[in-house]
Amino acid sequence: MYRLLFQLLFCRMDPERAHHLAFSWIRLLARVPVLRTFAAAFLAQRHRELRVEAFGLRMHGPFGLAAGFDKNAVGIDGLTMLGFDHVEIGTVTGRPQPGNPRTRLFRLVEDRALINRMGFNNEGSEAVAARLAARREVFRATVGVNIGKTKAVPEAEAADDYVTSTRRLAPHADYLVVNVSSPNTPGLRDLQAVDSLRPLLTAVRDAADAAVTDRRVPLLVKIAPDLADSDIDAVADLAVELALDGIIATNTTIAREGLGLASPPEQTAEAGGLSGAPLRERSLQVLRRLYARVGDRVTLVGVGGVEDAEDVWQRILAGATLVQGYSAFVYQGPLWCRGIHKGLAARLRNSRYRTLADAVGADVRKAESAA
Ligand SMILES: Cc1cc2nc3c(=O)[nH]c(=O)nc-3n(C[C@H](O)[C@H](O)[C@H](O)COP(=O)(O)O)c2cc1C
Repeated sequence: MYRLLFQLLFCRMDPERAHHLAFSWIRLLARVPVLRTFAAAFLAQRHRELRVEAFGLRMHGPFGLAAGFDKNAVGIDGLTMLGFDHVEIGTVTGRPQPGNPRTRLFRLVEDRALINRMGFNNEGSEAVAARLAARREVFRATVGVNIGKTKAVPEAEAADDYVTSTRRLAPHADYLVVNVSSPNTPGLRDLQAVDSLRPLLTAVRDAADAAVTDRRVPLLVKIAPDLADSDIDAVADLAVELALDGIIATNTTIAREGLGLASPPEQTAEAGGLSGAPLRERSLQVLRRLYARVGDRVTLVGVGGVEDAEDVWQRILAGATLVQGYSAFVYQGPLWCRGIHKGLAARLRNSRYRTLADAVGADVRKAESAA
């Protein structure tokens, strides 16, 4: 059914318009009490055995929606209704900004991938904080807030911009993510160098603690798949040093070579970050490397090319406590989470592990003990 809708309608539209249309339908459905109850009962089925705890937060399951889909926190209930166990909103920047000129989102259908150069189009942290403050929750949701740098702010003042957003948004965030890995804001990824990242994360930590005194807001950093292995290790060591709560691996990639892309070159050559199936292997590699380095001292969130329950299971075995996805949602539609939860519960039942927590990192530990 969704496949037909995708082929007949969405595929013939500009991808960004299709996104807004589909998202408005999800939000509309979530506004009608009877319909949303039925939708949630069918799509967001709970499996007791999939319950997880990550950085002190209890969730119905490990699978969430990655940042970028709901940049302005307008559809948290609708997305929870579809079965996402957490929703990461953003990226939100200190000031509102329009993002890059359109067209800036491209489908690579043959590759089950997307390329985007949105450039953090969002309403800014003041407006998004006001929306979150006014939100009347319909479904209990875990809300992550992903923050980034305003394009017009020079790199030397980047920390102030993140701190402004932190002050406004931390009170409304179940967890906070410092995004230093989008390829579409010039210079942003340079902040991943530990000499820049250390003061940035320290400033955000301090600002979160000052803004929220009755709990400790978990703080995570989101990294790019294009980092060299030595840089991944350096971020991992920094996360341990700063007692960071988590690392999200990974954002989109600027790479095109070696990914076996099947789409025509005029599509694959679009500037921007590539996501979806071709990113799977690299994101998994980065996750494994991080787990081998940090073990259970830092919680890992696996994202990039996750399409089905098997992918989620593989991320967990590679060290992820939580797993996220975005691109495959576009291709698979509203039944996506339902299928993932069912498949994951079956995998856990048929495994030697009693809980998902027992399975986290098992493949990496096995490889280490065999070496
Ligand atoms: C259209 C689009 C917009 C995105 N915007 C953001 C963003 O604002 N902030 C962010 O941290 N990641 C953003 N991402 C990256 C995703 O959160 C995710 O890390 C990446 O797409 C890999 O996951 P996937 O292969 O499941 O899509 C975006 C991705 C897409 C496709």
